[in-house]
Amino acid sequence: MAGYLDRIGAGKVLLDKAPLSYDWVPPSLIGRDEELGEMAGIFSQIENHETSCQAVVMGPVGSGKTVLTRRFAEDIQRHLEGRRKTVITHVNCRNHPTGPQVLQQIALSLDERHPERGFSPGEIIQSIRRNLITHDSHLLLILDEADILVNRDQSDLIYKLLRIDEGKENQGTISMILVSQNLSLMKLFEPAIISRLGQSNIVEMQPYNAETLTGIASQRVEVACRTGSVADETLAKIGQFAAESGDARMAIELLEAAIRRTEKDGRGEVLPDDVRPSTLRKASLEPSSVDNLSQHQKLSLLGICRRLKKAEYVSSGDAHKLYLLVCEEYEVKPRSYTTFWKHLKTLETEGLIETRAANTNVGRGRTQHITMNNTAPATIESRIEREFLRG
Ligand SMILES: Nc1ncnc2c1ncn2[C@@H]1O[C@H](COP(=O)(O)OP(=O)(O)O)[C@@H](O)[C@H]1O
Ligand SMILES: [Mg+2]
Repeated sequence: MAGYLDRIGAGKVLLDKAPLSYDWVPPSLIGRDEELGEMAGIFSQIENHETSCQAVVMGPVGSGKTVLTRRFAEDIQRHLEGRRKTVITHVNCRNHPTGPQVLQQIALSLDERHPERGFSPGEIIQSIRRNLITHDSHLLLILDEADILVNRDQSDLIYKLLRIDEGKENQGTISMILVSQNLSLMKLFEPAIISRLGQSNIVEMQPYNAETLTGIASQRVEVACRTGSVADETLAKIGQFAAESGDARMAIELLEAAIRRTEKDGRGEVLPDDVRPSTLRKASLEPSSVDNLSQHQKLSLLGICRRLKKAEYVSSGDAHKLYLLVCEEYEVKPRSYTTFWKHLKTLETEGLIETRAANTNVGRGRTQHITMNNTAPATIESRIEREFLRG
């Protein structure tokens, strides 16, 4: 029998890897009752159809800003069921950093056939408004990493959205949650915006402590792993290590790496020894570490760097497309997809990139999200480009 296939789909530890993805939204948050309570306070009048609410969520990387807004939005949508129809739109401004791009994302989320061109921002805003009124819906708009938009947007989109109902018959079309890492976000705004947002509507998130980080890892283990396969001491160690930065992402990353190590050894229990801080992104790499790569490894990496200057991660499919573009640019014949895939693995072994399985519910087997945590993409990019110019 093909016994070797037993390994597929049935890990000794892992039952379901989706909860280890960063995009997974847990059914409840660990240690954020107070912040969720503050959000509920800010939105206390939301049942009133003529009302819209605004909140600003701030905190360092991995303090749970994104997941807090997602959890809150879904909870409030359910809470309002039958009383006020609410649609949620979440735009990450890192991926859509200009006013027109954000507007396009909002329009698309309400109507996927929204045409890409041909309308002014003012027209799009009014068509968004009409769409909402026609469907008797309230829009809960989350602008994640809003500081990037504020810094780059000349169109004053946030201000325009805040005034969307001004002088109109129906009020309360859009509620907005702005999310930012940058604690001085409010300083970037004009006084007119600040007065509309309201100083009191700021929710500030602190970095997590070891105990909460242990709880966050433990929550993922409960849904992702076989019962009893991760020792309590292991979770405690993860919490301790991650507490150095207070970043929940670190806890999940350490957990995933520990599980992978355990399964690779064919063991069924993840022990404290499997938790190694060596995967920490602090371990930074010298740019010169790219010099010894082969030509096509460099070309693959170049495509990835170019995207990661602007985006949080790049999917393996996109990385391949970018590689083809780079090959075209330098007039080199691209290698096969399989070879490209091997190059990715080499880049990962070298510590130049990190990969993790994308949320699997799209049904495509091995899509990976690629990030570069140990180096600056722009630095690597210019180093490779310089070399190719010389060559
Ligand atoms: N309180 C929490 N409970 C459970 N999971 C959390 C919590 N805070 C963060 N996480 C998880 O940690 C990861 C990073 O959180 P995220 O919301 O992306 O942080 P931020 O947006 O502040 O950088 C995500 O996978 C998120 O689901
Ligand atoms: Mg975030």
